[in-house]
Amino acid sequence: MIRLNNVALRYDRGPDILTDVNFHLRPGSFHFLTGPSGAGKSSLLRLLFMSIHPTRGQIHLFGQDVSKITTAKRAQHRRRIGIVFQDFRLLDHLTTWENIALPLRVVGKRIDDYREDVTDLLQWVGLGDRMHAYPSILSGGEKQRAAIARAVIGKPELLLADEPTGNVDPQMARRLLRLFIELNRLGTSVVIATHDHQLMRQFKAPRLELHDGHVRIV
Ligand SMILES: Nc1ncnc2c1ncn2[C@@H]1O[C@H](COP(=O)(O)OP(=O)(O)O)[C@@H](O)[C@H]1O
Ligand SMILES: [Mg+2]
Repeated sequence: MIRLNNVALRYDRGPDILTDVNFHLRPGSFHFLTGPSGAGKSSLLRLLFMSIHPTRGQIHLFGQDVSKITTAKRAQHRRRIGIVFQDFRLLDHLTTWENIALPLRVVGKRIDDYREDVTDLLQWVGLGDRMHAYPSILSGGEKQRAAIARAVIGKPELLLADEPTGNVDPQMARRLLRLFIELNRLGTSVVIATHDHQLMRQFKAPRLELHDGHVRIV
């Protein structure tokens, strides 16, 4: 699913954010990605989503070296990934419902086949009465739940979530964790960046710990 060999990352001429990172995540695995603020969690997720490229080393995703694939192939790979950005990145010209339906629309699914699923999922994350609102008027917690719904609706092969419970209360965080666990049971590999220890206590999963630019799995 994901393999990193001696990966290093730095931005421009800054210091190495990551050095000598090596790990391998199997299909169907579940990992928390932890480490203090500024450790490089978001950067590592960006590398896995191919938004940025390593300064050194190789990243293999879905069996291919991502530095050697075409732009079209990269776009194809991205459609197999559900991602929750720390800053949500909802599209402001679409309603919340339309934002969640978008990943299905872009792969050519018919609205009649997903209408109910989108509505059910929105209700499940507590946005039943916000479906037709535009993202700009949603609260931080509501945007976060919408971003999560958009990431999971297509049952992606890989889910990358950047601090997905940072803006919701503990009860909602538990509910969202259940959603990730359920998706994982259906076969999705899950990587959740978080420093929410209460959340990590609720589900036993290995951790990718980021410290001083290195990753170890504990
Ligand atoms: N686009 C960027 N340009 C330059 N430095 C960046 C950029 N993004 C992140 N950084 C730096 O990389 C380091 C890791 O950041 P980040 O990956 O956001 O960590 P985390 O998500 O663990 O808080 C920080 O020192 C941050 O300032
Ligand atoms: Mg971050």
